[in-house]
Amino acid sequence: MLKKHFFIGSIFLLLIILGGIFSLATQCATPDNSKENERNFNFKTKETMQLPDPVKDGDMSLEKTLTLRRSKRSYTDEPLTIEQISQLLWSAQGVTSERGFRTAPTAGGTLPLEMFFVVNNVDDLKQGIYQYHPDDHSISLIREGYYSDDLTRACMGQSMVRDASVNFIFGAVYERTTSRYGERGYRYVYNEIGHASQNLHLQAASLDLGTVVIGAYDDDEVERILDLDPEINILYIMPVGNIN
Ligand SMILES: Cc1cc2nc3c(=O)[nH]c(=O)nc-3n(C[C@H](O)[C@H](O)[C@H](O)COP(=O)(O)O)c2cc1C
Repeated sequence: MLKKHFFIGSIFLLLIILGGIFSLATQCATPDNSKENERNFNFKTKETMQLPDPVKDGDMSLEKTLTLRRSKRSYTDEPLTIEQISQLLWSAQGVTSERGFRTAPTAGGTLPLEMFFVVNNVDDLKQGIYQYHPDDHSISLIREGYYSDDLTRACMGQSMVRDASVNFIFGAVYERTTSRYGERGYRYVYNEIGHASQNLHLQAASLDLGTVVIGAYDDDEVERILDLDPEINILYIMPVGNIN
């Protein structure tokens, strides 16, 4: 009799443990909307516009795109189109699931990345600093103006920043990920930047556009030029332009 009770009790305990593991796993794979992470810095300005829908079945195979991906640092004066901007932003951080997940994986659904871009020469877009809103695939003009020279100086004079039609800027709010994972969260944010920037690199290759990832820049200077919230850390810059 005692044995039977012990057996039933053990099964019960096992079920509770399994339930706990399941709920933890589910929680880890859900975008984090907790109060702590509500500060999303994703503000829409008066000049917000909807981007054209991205193409989701392009002509170039993944294998060919991987073979063609190369850092390219020399661009022509031909402007980029709004369709190309739409495609590049979507490749890096576009929403691809009903639950809000994106083209790049995100640790525990914490979504630490914020994408900005500095327009120099794009059809139908004023020169200025913009933010991408992945949730509805729209963009907002944060500040109008010509910033390519300043940005080039902040990037140690690397001329492709000046010559590019657009410079994509990857920012991250560490707190979103470190509040869940502690110190290890920093590593996860760097991992995530790698995923998102590689997506953009591959998308540029498949559109026959040139790009390169830039890590050599003065953090303070770039952050001063962009003048964003201090909690947004700039982790990568990608100039993009047409190539010959
Ligand atoms: C973390 C990181 C930082 C980089 N920073 C720069 C940079 O500041 N300027 C630059 O011209 N290239 C930069 N690159 C690009 C490398 O120079 C380039 O990937 C390398 O020469 C290999 O060429 P590939 O990309 O065509 O394979 C960086 C690459 C990585 C991964």
